Amino acid sequence: MYATRLPNRPPTPVNPDGHPHSAVAEAHPNIALVKYWGKRDAALNLPVVGSLSITLDRLRTRTRVRFVPESGADQVVLNGRASEAEARRVGACLDLLREAAGIDWRAEVASGNDFPTAAGLASSASGFAALVLAGSAALGLDLPPSRLSVLARRGSGSAARSIFGGFVEWAHGERADGSDSLARPLLGAAEWPLGVAVAVTSTAAKEIGSSEGMGRTAMTSPYQRAWVEGQEANLAEARRAVLARDFEALADISEHSCLKMHALALAARPGLLYWNGASVECMHRLRALRRSGVPVFFTIDAGPQVKAVCLPEARAAVAAALREVRGVLEVLECGLGEGARLIEDGAAADAER
Ligand code: DP6
Repeated sequence: MYATRLPNRPPTPVNPDGHPHSAVAEAHPNIALVKYWGKRDAALNLPVVGSLSITLDRLRTRTRVRFVPESGADQVVLNGRASEAEARRVGACLDLLREAAGIDWRAEVASGNDFPTAAGLASSASGFAALVLAGSAALGLDLPPSRLSVLARRGSGSAARSIFGGFVEWAHGERADGSDSLARPLLGAAEWPLGVAVAVTSTAAKEIGSSEGMGRTAMTSPYQRAWVEGQEANLAEARRAVLARDFEALADISEHSCLKMHALALAARPGLLYWNGASVECMHRLRALRRSGVPVFFTIDAGPQVKAVCLPEARAAVAAALREVRGVLEVLECGLGEGARLIEDGAAADAER
């Protein structure tokens, strides 16, 4: 597995106002069952369509944000390595918090994932959800989850959904400033505890990131209009299936949305091909399992990993079947999990031992 390690830090001095200016948060990736693809405002990460997701329990991002009362550049250490590229994206998101708190201190951010980063496992979703929660707590801002969702969205669209656990819906919103484009919980993780088996088929970072892929798709794919027009009906179908806990209905609409998103992206110029051979083999294997009566369906995001969603009692058999597919490197078994939460800094230190 991959380590969730935060570098050791000297204890943060408590400032005269009694607030330590440091906090640690944990968040999980989420997987969209009705996909987000396309932006109506790229700077604000406003989507052209709503989306519906499940938050996972086992894969985890842990992030410490520490504000230092001096000016200068933010420092970002991601999985133990300083990252200039991430520092800009993270800094832009932290600017929103600094503005809300009325300070201009620089931040030291250390974040670790216990799963492959940037390979279609939504590490930016869990990353920005943990970042805004830790950052706002470090500044003593007591923000409601709805506000955190809007802020996380500014870092990465899908991060809006990782603020919440279980089944989550993110509205595209209407307002130009994006204040109504936020996620809300639909059904708790414990209320329909589905299983998820993630088949990792590559640990390489993807070649074309989601933002670039969405931009290219909107400019060049002949299916963009049909995609946008069909989304509300797909969301209504998925919402109904979730609230009725109707697995077959959720399976049908989820595979449809996944394949439709990929068809849309495949038709861009040049076409966006996020799958590898093992991804395709996994889809065939999961379809065969479903035909044989196993309650399972697949979904795939902007990367080659295949996520199999199933009823909990089928998870071990689904994971075993995926492990047999040639090209599958590892299968991660998860359930549905909670939204982003603050954890004790001591607990983060425990993870380092
Ligand atoms: C295919 O949220 O990573 O996973 O907003 O540019 O950061 P940005 O994109 P991101 O895109 C996720 C796209 C997807 C589908 C989904 O999660 O809904």
